[in-house]
Amino acid sequence: PHVTKQTRRLIADDGGIEQAATLLAQGETVAIPTETVYGLAGDARNGDAVARIYAAKGRPSFNPLIVHLADRAMADEIGVFGPEAGLLADAFWPGALTLVLPLRPIARIASLVTAGLDTIALRLPANDTARALLRRFGGPLAAPSANASGRISPTSADHVLDPEGGLSGRIAAVLDAGPCPVGVESTIIGWVHGRATLLRPGGIPAEAIEAALGHELAGYTADQSAPNAPGQLTSHYAPKAHLRLNATETREGETHLTFGRPGPFALSSVGDLTEAAANLFDMLRRADSLGRPIAVDPIPDHGLGVAINDRLRRAAAPRS
Ligand code: TXA
Ligand code: MG
Repeated sequence: PHVTKQTRRLIADDGGIEQAATLLAQGETVAIPTETVYGLAGDARNGDAVARIYAAKGRPSFNPLIVHLADRAMADEIGVFGPEAGLLADAFWPGALTLVLPLRPIARIASLVTAGLDTIALRLPANDTARALLRRFGGPLAAPSANASGRISPTSADHVLDPEGGLSGRIAAVLDAGPCPVGVESTIIGWVHGRATLLRPGGIPAEAIEAALGHELAGYTADQSAPNAPGQLTSHYAPKAHLRLNATETREGETHLTFGRPGPFALSSVGDLTEAAANLFDMLRRADSLGRPIAVDPIPDHGLGVAINDRLRRAAAPRS
């Protein structure tokens, strides 16, 4: 097995980006900032590098990875864009949207990236550091969220290096560009039986995508009994504490995450879904570290609230 001695924290200036690109070119794994969450990046063309991503996360190898690219031209070399995919890429890239497309058979992508599927998940991240790194690296970077499999996704370099369940000592470096502004993972859209389908709600609200397409998206089921996105495992983002959702009253001994009212754990005291999404994972982590049960106010189920509720349901799901 590949043993990394110490995980380096690289500041996201020109020098840090250069060092990160060099490590990635050597087949190492580096946690990188994106506007959604930190990703654990490796060269998508290098099977050893991709194997290191799975190993560092303890991720089941049937769960395919998202490939991050610097520009649309690179994306076109890897995936086949239908008219709707092209329209969505024009409307939302760079940004928090992942498109699952037919994989070009000639594309140089390690088969471990797609877990053997004939489709591939592609995204152009909007974060300046990620874009500078992708340009400097000059190739596709596979990057799942930079957390141990099943744990809460990281929205800061400190989360990536968390001694409790983080990736410290398991990866070569983390490129630190501060907290992630969106705070929940990208929205994933795929074409199932030719219909644009919401595979995972995320940082771009489904309503915005439907407005761009001019029609509704096909169903997303929170219950993943028929997983169209393999690895959309039900229990995910698991805190250690018990989590009570839609908690309208406060109970003794609980840490209460509030929405639309102030409190020491306010996701957003003014009831702003964008602010709540940005705070969600950090607050879940901080609440969990107190070792008490966690309660969460009801979150409106529209816009970014759909992604927030999806992550909360997974965090509250029984562990297998
Ligand atoms: O915002 C994000 O999407 C972050 C940042 C780092 O870009 N990445 C992220 O990756 O959330 P990850 O690996 O934690 O989630 C990727 C999801 C998985 O649930 C996987 O099943 C799905 O994308 N996926 C990847 N390739 C797929 C494919 N070919 N078909 C269907 N689903 C796919
Ligand atoms: Mg993840």
